[in-house]
Amino acid sequence: GEKKKAEAPKVLRVGTEPTFAPFEFQKDGSKEFDGFDMDLIRAIGKQLNMKVEILNMGFDALIPALNAGNIDVAAAGMSITPDRQKAVDMSDPYYVAGLVVVVNKDNTAVKGINELNNKGIAVQIGTTGAERAAKVPGAKVKNFNTNAEVFLELKNKGVEAVIIDKPVAEYFLATGGGKDYAKIVGDTMEAESYGLSLKKNSPLTKEINKALLDLKKNGEYDKIYAKWFGA
Ligand code: ARG
Repeated sequence: GEKKKAEAPKVLRVGTEPTFAPFEFQKDGSKEFDGFDMDLIRAIGKQLNMKVEILNMGFDALIPALNAGNIDVAAAGMSITPDRQKAVDMSDPYYVAGLVVVVNKDNTAVKGINELNNKGIAVQIGTTGAERAAKVPGAKVKNFNTNAEVFLELKNKGVEAVIIDKPVAEYFLATGGGKDYAKIVGDTMEAESYGLSLKKNSPLTKEINKALLDLKKNGEYDKIYAKWFGA
């Protein structure tokens, strides 16, 4: 038989796209990954006795990376959708969000999604915001790799509006560069819940759900939530 050695903790390879504050972001000039999802996945790693390694990739590269076996989990504010559930395993929901329309402050014409027909809309590629924009009649949808580019395009008036997740828009307006020029208009659309995603039929899916539940029970989830969104 094999001799028992002191085992090094297994590595949990986590993919993310870090232009999505407060869920995942890198402070200016830093390579560190910060945010709600990053704290949550590190807490889950601890719970599973695994060493968390975070990899930066395009949002639309996450599901292919899971399927290729290059990462074990995607922690990226990824909304649970029927299409994604066909492609990958998604964990139990850990955050409830939705989409909003963001326009320039001086824009008095656009009061919500219904005034966006035939207009320019900036979105991040592969997101539910991009899917929603594609349904707006006649809209000229511009897809970008990062949300930094999405918001810059709005600032430069290359588009009339952005469609993005509400908590990310709110954070951008409160603490990001957005408060000087941008505002949210209209109602929250498409109630969506975020889940962690894993390769289809991954043996880790059950463990991740168990860890999530444990963190909810032991107060750790609430602590992380309060840190990023207030109590
Ligand atoms: N919740 C949206 C979606 O699932 C946007 C997620 C974008 N996440 C990111 N880390 N850039 O499509």
